[in-house]
Amino acid sequence: MIAALVNLTPGVGRTMLAVNLAGELALQGRRVVLLDIDGVSGTGDWIARRRANGMPLLFDSATIAGTQLWHGLGGFAASFDHVVIDTPSRSPAALRAALLAAETVLIPTRPDRASLGRGAATLQLVIEALAVEPALTASLVLSKAPDGLRVEPGSEATVMGLRLPVSAAVIRQRQAFTDSMDTGLLVPELEMAGQAEADIRHLVSETFGLATAPVTG
Ligand SMILES: Nc1ncnc2c1ncn2[C@@H]1O[C@H](COP(=O)(O)OP(=O)(O)OP(=O)(O)O)[C@@H](O)[C@H]1O
Ligand SMILES: [Mg+2]
Repeated sequence: MIAALVNLTPGVGRTMLAVNLAGELALQGRRVVLLDIDGVSGTGDWIARRRANGMPLLFDSATIAGTQLWHGLGGFAASFDHVVIDTPSRSPAALRAALLAAETVLIPTRPDRASLGRGAATLQLVIEALAVEPALTASLVLSKAPDGLRVEPGSEATVMGLRLPVSAAVIRQRQAFTDSMDTGLLVPELEMAGQAEADIRHLVSETFGLATAPVTG
């Protein structure tokens, strides 16, 4: 699966999700590469913090120019089970490159109307891509959400007339996610079997279709 985290709005949690999704897939035994478009998405900073804390990177990582993404993907798709793409904010060119390359796009967004409204330009580009790429799928992922918020499977959101599915997996506002970004640790490394890990596992199973670790040996 080639999955991209996209939203032109800064600070919505793309990089936090990219590293923790890649990490969870790796912990489940999958071969994963995390791609950072143009080296400005923020995964490089997280990886540097992880190295500074003496932690091995559990997945591969690479920086790739947005203009090279589509051409470069063939090699990655052949060598890895999953490709996770983090994208910079405020770059429609990078967003378009990710939409061309990805099989599925996740659009993290805070779960309030104003934030969804700010995402309209992103949604417009995603919906245009869905119209011309029948194999592409996309969903909103509610991020930094309050504790009580629940999403029924199969839910959709309509933003300025644009309709998109909403992931049943909700990423809540949690200290473990902030700490993960500050330390370069994955959420299960900070807190075993914690609620942040449960949020990530839910999104992994919904997006990548994995429920349990593969049987090896
Ligand atoms: N679910 C969450 N709960 C608490 N804090 C979060 C959560 N998601 C992200 N954060 C915090 O919000 C900040 C922005 O997150 P992140 O860097 O992942 O967003 P981004 O969309 O990649 O932003 P940028 O535009 O800088 O690339 C970080 O400081 C991170 O620690
Ligand atoms: Mg980022």
